[in-house]
Amino acid sequence: MAHSRTQAPRNGSSVLGTSIKGLLLTAGVAAIANIGRKTAVQAPTAMADDWCAGLAREHKATLAVIDKLQAVSPEHPERRTMMMISLTHMISKHAMQEENVIYPMLRRGESAEAADALNREHGQVKAMLYELNHMEKGNPAFVTTLGELRSALEEHMREEEDSLFPALRERLSEDENRKLSREMNMAGLMLA
Ligand SMILES: [Fe+2]
Repeated sequence: MAHSRTQAPRNGSSVLGTSIKGLLLTAGVAAIANIGRKTAVQAPTAMADDWCAGLAREHKATLAVIDKLQAVSPEHPERRTMMMISLTHMISKHAMQEENVIYPMLRRGESAEAADALNREHGQVKAMLYELNHMEKGNPAFVTTLGELRSALEEHMREEEDSLFPALRERLSEDENRKLSREMNMAGLMLA
């Protein structure tokens, strides 16, 4: 019986080459999908040339997601889990923008103590998100903790929107505010 030899690949391609091409193609598609996701998640602030208004829009969107989540019945724990993933993602992206760009700028002025307090509050919010993500989603404690998260966020947002952020915007020149908006959007893109 004739021994069959493996045929040499044509056009210089090889099995290994083909799988590398496949991998590159998959990576390319994934990268394009990722850009789409980043753009969509970043949209509320990327379209804003005013960092203050952009953050206020994200605050509103976050509370709206919590309200929707509160309306989900305990009989749909999987839906609660999926919404918790979205909520955690949007709050993390928002926190990245504030902690990495806005709060350091607050600290440059006379508001170092305020920046410390805001960072501490973010820490508490992250701890509540952690508890909610690890909690049995059908458990009545889930809605109670979610309500506590909403109250904490609302108070934190009110302080930012009503006093600290407008004061910072006022202190900066038009050019500095524009630069701050650009830097904030870049920080958001890292996590969007
Ligand atoms: Fe905020």
